Amino acid sequence: MIDFRKLRPALALALALGFGAVHAAAAQGQAGQPWMDRSRPSGERAALALAAMTQAEKLSLVFGFASGDQLGQISDSVINAEARRKALASVVPGSAGWIPGVPRLGIPDQFQTDASLGVRNPRMDGHTALPSSLATAASFDPKLTFAGGAMIGREARLSGFNIMLAGGVNLVREPRNGRNFEYAGEDPLLAASVSAGLVNGIQSNGIVSTMKHFAINSQETGRTVLSAQIAEGAARDSDYLAFELVQDWARPGSVMCSYNRINDVYACENDRLLNQALKQDWGFKGYVMSDWGAVHSTVQAANAGLDQQSGFPFDKQAYFGTLLERAVEDGSVPQARLDDMVRRILWALLDKGAVDNPVAKGTIDWDAHARVTLKAAQDSMVLLKNTENLLPLRGARSIALIGGHADRGVLAGGGSSLVMPRGGNAVPGLKPEHWPGPVVYYPSSPLKALQSALPRARVAYDPGTDPVAAAALAAKCDVAIVFVTQWTGEAFDVSLALEGQQDALVEAVARANPRTLVVVESGGAILMPWLPRVGAVLQAWYPGTQGGQAIADILTGAVNPSGRLPITFPASMEQLVRPRLDGVGLKDGEGFTVRYTEGAAVGYKWYDQKGLTPLFPFGYGLSYSRFTSGKLRIEDRPAGLTATVQARNTGARKGATVVQLYASAKAGGWEAPKRLVAFQKVWLEPGESRDVTLTIDPRLLSVWDPSTGRRRVTEGDYLFSLGDSAQSLTETVSHPLADRKL
Ligand code: BGC
Repeated sequence: MIDFRKLRPALALALALGFGAVHAAAAQGQAGQPWMDRSRPSGERAALALAAMTQAEKLSLVFGFASGDQLGQISDSVINAEARRKALASVVPGSAGWIPGVPRLGIPDQFQTDASLGVRNPRMDGHTALPSSLATAASFDPKLTFAGGAMIGREARLSGFNIMLAGGVNLVREPRNGRNFEYAGEDPLLAASVSAGLVNGIQSNGIVSTMKHFAINSQETGRTVLSAQIAEGAARDSDYLAFELVQDWARPGSVMCSYNRINDVYACENDRLLNQALKQDWGFKGYVMSDWGAVHSTVQAANAGLDQQSGFPFDKQAYFGTLLERAVEDGSVPQARLDDMVRRILWALLDKGAVDNPVAKGTIDWDAHARVTLKAAQDSMVLLKNTENLLPLRGARSIALIGGHADRGVLAGGGSSLVMPRGGNAVPGLKPEHWPGPVVYYPSSPLKALQSALPRARVAYDPGTDPVAAAALAAKCDVAIVFVTQWTGEAFDVSLALEGQQDALVEAVARANPRTLVVVESGGAILMPWLPRVGAVLQAWYPGTQGGQAIADILTGAVNPSGRLPITFPASMEQLVRPRLDGVGLKDGEGFTVRYTEGAAVGYKWYDQKGLTPLFPFGYGLSYSRFTSGKLRIEDRPAGLTATVQARNTGARKGATVVQLYASAKAGGWEAPKRLVAFQKVWLEPGESRDVTLTIDPRLLSVWDPSTGRRRVTEGDYLFSLGDSAQSLTETVSHPLADRKL
């Protein structure tokens, strides 16, 4: 088994070689190349290009290289020496990977970059980072995630990348998962809506985006060896549903299969997952690429639906190298299967525009991109508590800013999605400095942003390392703001308790000054033992490269907070489905099973089913305005089932409400009492009211039936409720639904 912690820093020492020449060849569509005819459908073009390819060219398209210097160490018996030489000369140093193109046919090289938050490349000069995906899910706004995707996709294109390894849409099943910040929350509808926005935005640049990590890659502990045990129907109604909806709404060119096993079979060689669910049932036309090091076989993987092996030498063997060539020769992998792999890759490159508009390095409008990520951060922050209108800060003459390196910047998550910022790490030297580190703070200082927004106030900073000193400063100020941080990342899971003495720091400061508020920079949910003793809490997530400014904008009221929680915050560890994380304490490489006995009852559905009261529920968030809603109407219209309601801003400032519609099956039969079936974010001027119409996708009212392999809406009465959160429903109407097979 590859030790990923050791491998990653080595990859970072990638080769300093250029890659410009290949683009020109790719750009040339020569005469007699009918697949370059843009007026033909992508499927036809892919078939025509395939027919013109040699077997060697086909095999080269299904085998990807990592960008590390291990490439130089691979022996000639593993991969062809010429291919390796070309890889060394072509791969973009510091990027995720590279696959050779077929220049004579106008098929470009595939230049792969991570990930959902922006272009990751520690060897380049820095890029714009969006807030974490969990943060932008909190915006409840697919238009916002589209804008973010369009921006990072543009940076990818202008940095020479045509494949973006983005679209993390695994449901947040395990609140301790170190990668939750790369995902879009616990609800399939919300996760799919915002992820589809992101993928559509990225692909609007004429490049390919993935969605990932398919599937049930719900924790990082033991991710390469664990088997996620889950009933197929439960998966189809939860995690798979999120992927199914993104496929439907964004048509990603590629899907990345995950490290783990599902019901004992590795995801990247799982016929039920890849051939049956993804390709057959959902009609996915693109290609399945493996996660880096997630392939374990040649024949089984190829025949189960894997189309491209990624990032060699992350895998133990070049399964889709000479081994695949031989398997096709001896017929254990049919030639038609190899052709299908290649046709799918060609389809994605042609359909998304990567052939017709080859990528090339160009100038990035950093200021415009900063505005995009600033807006994303502003609209993603969630105001969790605000007693006596402590916020927005008004009239405070002295403010103590404490902890969290808030004088210098804002925290980012670690691992393969970490975007290095322009201007460098604001707090270098924190541990770990290597994979999955470094720990990076983006140079957007909340302190400086507050000082410039409040020129008449004295804003003093204390690092928070000594709670007594911090409390002394807080006691002298009108308001105290404590920044707490939780660093999470790839390849490890976390505790929900804050590290070090941060809880004690908040308690000490709150004792010294009753007007204390807390800003949380975290990958996901945290426990807040001090909650009753602080006046306000702002959940800022990992807010991206303009995060410090966005925090100041919310605290001062320049921007009205409008985020809603995309996950449940538990009140205690005992409320979790698995109070103890599986796999902890096992030897490296020792396999184990995680039994997802909650099935499709993920997140708030679990809390509903068990009658648990969380610390903060899914869908919850405060505003500086107040909103009311009029009567709810449910109607069967030609376009489908719709809900109409009037939303009104009764507050004194512009703000946004998120209309949330939940449904329950009166007769039961669902995984939990209710599901989110539609939502819409609505910005309203003071006093403004607006009719909002939501269309309900019938899949959200259905249950996947294992006996037929189809979804079914069962005839009966259903309750539709408006909610301020999953735990606070305001109005309910009953509506009958007819039996329907989907
Ligand atoms: C991650 C993927 C990432 C890939 C390439 C893997 O470790 O799981 O999300 O895209 O590396 O960097």
